[in-house]
Amino acid sequence: MFGVAYYPEHWPRRRWKSDALLMKRAGFKVVRLAEFAWEKIEPDDGVFDFSWLDDVVELLGAEGIDVVLGTPTAAPPAWLVEKHPNILPVRRDGTRMSFGGRHHNCHSNDIFRESVEIIVRSMAVHYRDNPHVKGWQVDNELGNSHEELCYCDSCRYHFHAWLQRKYGTIDALNAAWGTVFWSQTYTHFTQIPMPLATPNSHNPALLLDWHRFTSDLIVDFQRIQVAIIRDECREHFVTHNFMGFAGKVDYHLLCGDLDFVSHDQYPLGFEGESGAVRPAAESAMPLDFIRGLKSTRFWIMEQQSGAAGWETIGPTPRPGQIRLWTAQSIAHGADAVLFFRWRTSPSGTEQYWHGILPHSGDPGARYEEVAKTVRELDPVLESLKGGDIRKSRVAILFSYDQLWAFDIQPHHPDLRYLDHIGRYYSEFHRRNIAVDFVGLSDELAAYDLVFAPMVFLVNDELVAKLRAYVENGGVLLATMRSGVKDWNNGVLSEMLPGPFGRVFGIQIPDYDCLRGVTQGVRYEGIEETVSLWADIIETAGAAPVAVYAKDYYADRPAITEHAWEAGTAYYVGTELGDAVRRRLVARVLESAGIENGYDTPDGVEAVVRSSDRGEVLFLLNHTDQAQIVPFPDAWRPALLPDDAAPGESEEDLVLPAFEIALFTRGG
Ligand code: GLA
Ligand code: ZN
Repeated sequence: MFGVAYYPEHWPRRRWKSDALLMKRAGFKVVRLAEFAWEKIEPDDGVFDFSWLDDVVELLGAEGIDVVLGTPTAAPPAWLVEKHPNILPVRRDGTRMSFGGRHHNCHSNDIFRESVEIIVRSMAVHYRDNPHVKGWQVDNELGNSHEELCYCDSCRYHFHAWLQRKYGTIDALNAAWGTVFWSQTYTHFTQIPMPLATPNSHNPALLLDWHRFTSDLIVDFQRIQVAIIRDECREHFVTHNFMGFAGKVDYHLLCGDLDFVSHDQYPLGFEGESGAVRPAAESAMPLDFIRGLKSTRFWIMEQQSGAAGWETIGPTPRPGQIRLWTAQSIAHGADAVLFFRWRTSPSGTEQYWHGILPHSGDPGARYEEVAKTVRELDPVLESLKGGDIRKSRVAILFSYDQLWAFDIQPHHPDLRYLDHIGRYYSEFHRRNIAVDFVGLSDELAAYDLVFAPMVFLVNDELVAKLRAYVENGGVLLATMRSGVKDWNNGVLSEMLPGPFGRVFGIQIPDYDCLRGVTQGVRYEGIEETVSLWADIIETAGAAPVAVYAKDYYADRPAITEHAWEAGTAYYVGTELGDAVRRRLVARVLESAGIENGYDTPDGVEAVVRSSDRGEVLFLLNHTDQAQIVPFPDAWRPALLPDDAAPGESEEDLVLPAFEIALFTRGG
């Protein structure tokens, strides 16, 4: 179904009815309300006013529109902060932040948590029997509004308790963290600092545990709210709006307490700094990641529906892009799409974060595009009901522990875990090969190819899992800096790639960080520049597939292939250039027996989504030019562009700029 985020509190009551009617005319069935309305609901300590919200819910309900309520805990009101200034978060330099903006709260503070429990329980009790309220969004984009989380005394206390639970004794912590270095050995947990500003860098082991602790704190903060809602509202669902790859909270853990995951999808980015036409893979990758969290359908809680921006503003979505992006979200697994937001706000930080309606409130081109999108895609969503989303044949192993470890020590200043993954993801995406993102606890056996990027930190379980995968016939593709560290962020005192040596049939006695150093690889007759890092490999059972081109390690292996037990393990020791990466991925896919998906020109995405009732093929032109796509003969057309000009031949389909075409099969 389709819907929108609505802020009736921004507008005079006399406007509400026309908003509801316009929403109905657009085909909306669900509206998210109240996630920043704490002060309107509880204007003073213990004083509640639900009357305005009741009226809105009733008014929408009368037009057949259901409600998802947001718990308003992302916007603690001024009276609360005035009364308890200690709930304000403290920065890394030790200074306390001020009221203003939103999320100006510490997540561990007891008084804040009590106030949260009161507002959430009051709302839950008030709305548990309301026939129009179907579910809840807890808070808003937890963790990720913050540059950094909180370093207050309460957080210090909870950090110590977390460490004590994890390590048991201070000796165990000292050993795990290697605190002997620079005389940092602790005799009590209370001596352990938070990573506050210090003359030099902190111990990487401390930093990694701090990431884990702050993430756990957010998960725990959400859990309090989920428990209250479950307790009071047995029939309602509970979800949260995630932010793709935003890295503050381990979403594999945050999703555990929810009925389903929701996601906020802004294809042009925070302030559209990269222009109006973006590569399709960029907006596809977070969708595949979000689907992978619970390995099933999800909601888009916020779908971009206008120019985005706070102080500076991104470009306005080109006509057709809102519809295109909506179709893309559905193609990758969304069951509901709520646009953000209904009407552009006249006040506040987000005055220029544009909604479907402009400031004037007059429905214009964006409204008509959204209404058309809903009209066309509603039947498609209907046809996708029921059954699981089919698994892909390719999995990408993603881990927050690796992400954080590389944030702490990127090695090369330009090395980013996510960029590295994105380069490989794009290779699958341009071939229209579906990819699932999996986490450390997910099963791998069902996949024909697993891409395990930079498996930097290892533990016994992870090593056993990847080994078993190859032993049983899987094709594994792993990359540089694998098998380097233990799970506490200490370097293993072994020959690289540590416990992976046997699977990959290699040793890595030496390496070179490519800073101001030029290097290349030779592969199948081509030579291309590589970047960031070079693992200098010696084979021990594996066959070299590519060698370095220059310098003292010219001709030494850069990429290797190892037939091991029933499977094959590839190791890539460097950041490849596009041409070699492309060829290597083709080779790895071939060895896994995976063929390309539907053949499309660059910038046209082809995605198949399946259900019990059959399959839908989405052809999505993300470019601002018409593109010619071969007509998919084995499929029935379900939606063709209005102005689909005939191609040069009968077999062609011309997709104008930003256009979509849908086909069905089976069922
Ligand atoms: C996020 C939030 C919204 C809004 C938009 C635009 O996605 O969830 O409340 O702030 O960004 O900034
Ligand atoms: Zn704090």
